[in-house]
Amino acid sequence: MGKILHLLFFILISNSIISSSAQDCRSYSFTNNAIYATCISLPVQNSHLHWNYHPTNGTVDIAYRHTGVSTSQWVAWALNVNGNGMVGAQALVALVGSNGSVQVYTSSVSGYNTGLQQSSLSFDVPLLRAERVNGDVVIYATLVLPGGGTNFNQVWQMGPVSNGAPGAHALNPENRNSVGTVDFVTGQAGAGGGVGGSLLHRRNTHGVLNAVSWGVLMPMGAMVARYLKVFKVAHPAWFYIHVAIQATAYGIGVAGWGTGLKLGSDSEGIKYTSHRNIGITLFALGTLQVFALLLRPKPDHKYRIYWNIYHAGVGYAVISLGITNVFKGLDILDPEKKWKHAYIGVLISLAAIAVLLEAFTWFIVLKRKNEDKQEGHAGNGAYASNGYGHGQNQAA
Ligand SMILES: *[C@@H]1O[C@H](CO)[C@@H](O)[C@H](O)[C@H]1NC(C)=O
Ligand SMILES: *[C@@H]1O[C@H](CO)[C@@H](O)[C@H](O)[C@H]1NC(C)=O
Repeated sequence: MGKILHLLFFILISNSIISSSAQDCRSYSFTNNAIYATCISLPVQNSHLHWNYHPTNGTVDIAYRHTGVSTSQWVAWALNVNGNGMVGAQALVALVGSNGSVQVYTSSVSGYNTGLQQSSLSFDVPLLRAERVNGDVVIYATLVLPGGGTNFNQVWQMGPVSNGAPGAHALNPENRNSVGTVDFVTGQAGAGGGVGGSLLHRRNTHGVLNAVSWGVLMPMGAMVARYLKVFKVAHPAWFYIHVAIQATAYGIGVAGWGTGLKLGSDSEGIKYTSHRNIGITLFALGTLQVFALLLRPKPDHKYRIYWNIYHAGVGYAVISLGITNVFKGLDILDPEKKWKHAYIGVLISLAAIAVLLEAFTWFIVLKRKNEDKQEGHAGNGAYASNGYGHGQNQAA
């Protein structure tokens, strides 16, 4: 349990950790000694945005600084005025050639496969230049903010240069999470909130809800059903505990599923097909389990045994798919390694407990069989099979 709480705790606070890594944001000295009133460290890709906003003429002087850029790489920073993400981005692109020379231009991105061709933007850029200093690429620009607006969606990126032209960027989490909003007026105060934090926050929320529900509570609820009912004193309590845990897991799981659908519909152009399909299957199977409860034959009904097998079968399918999808989700979200390790730790603990209880259950079952034989009971079969054949003793 401690590990689960630890995992929850981390994911919930991870946003603030990421966005508070302001390190050298303010202390950086530009080669031209320019001083910028505001600086935010962007949440991914080691980038910083420095700026001065001029309310009198609605312009902003920016310096976009991307650290750790080698030769034959491009970096870009963009405002997306009418949308979000890559399509529609009004980008400033700096291309570092193989000899280290830096070429800078603007590009209005019209689609996913159109590349970063040179074109004019939907707003004026009276000043644009770039340099590369100690591996930092800095793009200096003055933007005439469109429509007098001050709050925009922004996106930034890095990719390879081949044959002097920008190539497609990687699709690592770093590359997919480099979107957010920027407010040129309140930026200074909002820096701690983390630009792009909202999407990251929603992804983390989605991850926590689903990891806890499908990935931890569901297996725990199944263990209650399988191992508690062997104890006579646990009748019929195990049944209600099982239902309570699974109902809670299902409730949280549906919330997590909803956040996943929303994330999917919001991230146009990015598809995690198998993660999505497994998620939809999980929701369907989980819902089936809820209805199965309502359609359950009476304990002494002759078909009850088949219902039990069906219910456990679907249950095990849900658990294996749930755990699989938590791992797929962890790979997509790509938090620090320790969170994957923590989840693996939780699973190993659950598995270890299950192995012990499994052994103990068989011990009890065999012992009871023996006692039944010695006492000459015909045996009502209540405990004859460890697992599903609990006929008369199962809570109705
Ligand atoms: C906008 O105003 C600022 C000062 O208010 C000035 O320094 C800057 O040159 C102006 N920019 C343009 C593009 O007119
Ligand atoms: C570096 O390469 C670019 C073309 O990629 C060329 O225009 C430029 O002259 C080169 N600079 C030097 C110093 O060789």
